[in-house]
Amino acid sequence: MKTVNVSLKDRSYQIIIKKNIFANIAAHHFSNYKKSKAIIITDKNVAKHYIKKFVSSFNKYKFEIQVIEILPGEKSKDLLVIKKVAEKLLKSNVKRNDIIYALGGGVVGDFSGFLASIILRGIKFIQVPTTLLSQVDSSVGGKTGVNTSTGKNLIGSFYQPTAVFIDPNTLKSLPQKEFMSGYSEVLKYSLINDKKFFYWLDLNSNKIISKNSKTMTEIINNCCIKKSIIVKKDEKELNHRMLLNLGHTFAHAIEKELKYKVKHGEAVSVGILMAIRLSILLNKTKHTNYNLIKSHLNKVNLPTSLICLNSKKKWNARSLIRNMLSDKKRVDKNIKFILLHDIGKAYIENSVSYEKIYLTIKEFFNE
Ligand code: GLY
Repeated sequence: MKTVNVSLKDRSYQIIIKKNIFANIAAHHFSNYKKSKAIIITDKNVAKHYIKKFVSSFNKYKFEIQVIEILPGEKSKDLLVIKKVAEKLLKSNVKRNDIIYALGGGVVGDFSGFLASIILRGIKFIQVPTTLLSQVDSSVGGKTGVNTSTGKNLIGSFYQPTAVFIDPNTLKSLPQKEFMSGYSEVLKYSLINDKKFFYWLDLNSNKIISKNSKTMTEIINNCCIKKSIIVKKDEKELNHRMLLNLGHTFAHAIEKELKYKVKHGEAVSVGILMAIRLSILLNKTKHTNYNLIKSHLNKVNLPTSLICLNSKKKWNARSLIRNMLSDKKRVDKNIKFILLHDIGKAYIENSVSYEKIYLTIKEFFNE
């Protein structure tokens, strides 16, 4: 068992990483919340694999349990779905001391966290992430929210969970494409501030692809430590936490262009390479870094060009830049990028000419 502390004064919590963790979660509920109902929010895909096991570990203690299934995918991150589930909870007499468990990937986590932050003006919630993306990134740090027609995650709150329980074994049931897509976020951490970790990941590519249990536990632990340090420094993303958006300015524009019919992590993979390319164009990093990262992405079968993401689309650099400009989270006319001085040395670039962004994107039409 590995434990990571997220130190945020009165909102501090622990991340516990352990195989077959469901029994520990039920025991934790018994020790801390004996009189509270366990409200388990999950989606149909996750429920298929885990809900019986999860509920039966709770049944041992005879707690009151309520299971709520939402539809898988981003469409559930919607205020109308929040309202529907909130009303269901209110009708079933939810109390302020009840606990919401988010059992699933990023969508379930973001949805449940947001609901927990507003129902009865806030009840406790616990993350039980089951995908690689949610285990290394979205379950930690308290970003919660839903989408709107103007963009993703534009309604939400910073609301920290009271614990995160991670079972690396749940990765085994993930489709390979989804698993590898989550891996882009792992690579991201190494590029931000840990060159040694990058070389370690590269050396262990085969073990990663085959979801080697020991390797994945090591990776999850390392990423959670890195995220907890960043969140402690800058919980509300005023500066330092922005580094976690490496590759994401490009990725969000790509996702919008493909009407979100692309895996987030696959867009991040191309977005990361674009960010390195832009760093080279601005004379901030060396070309050898680009080659190293591209060769690593090839090893782990992640996309490295826009054509890899969608070969039928007529890609248009100006349209991607327009998507970046319409990003509602932008505070001035400049588009912010997270770029690299070196592998393991990311920084925030506040002002880049449109011409340089254009030239960067154009290089990804054919590779
Ligand atoms: N996923 C990026 C962050 O939590 O800030």
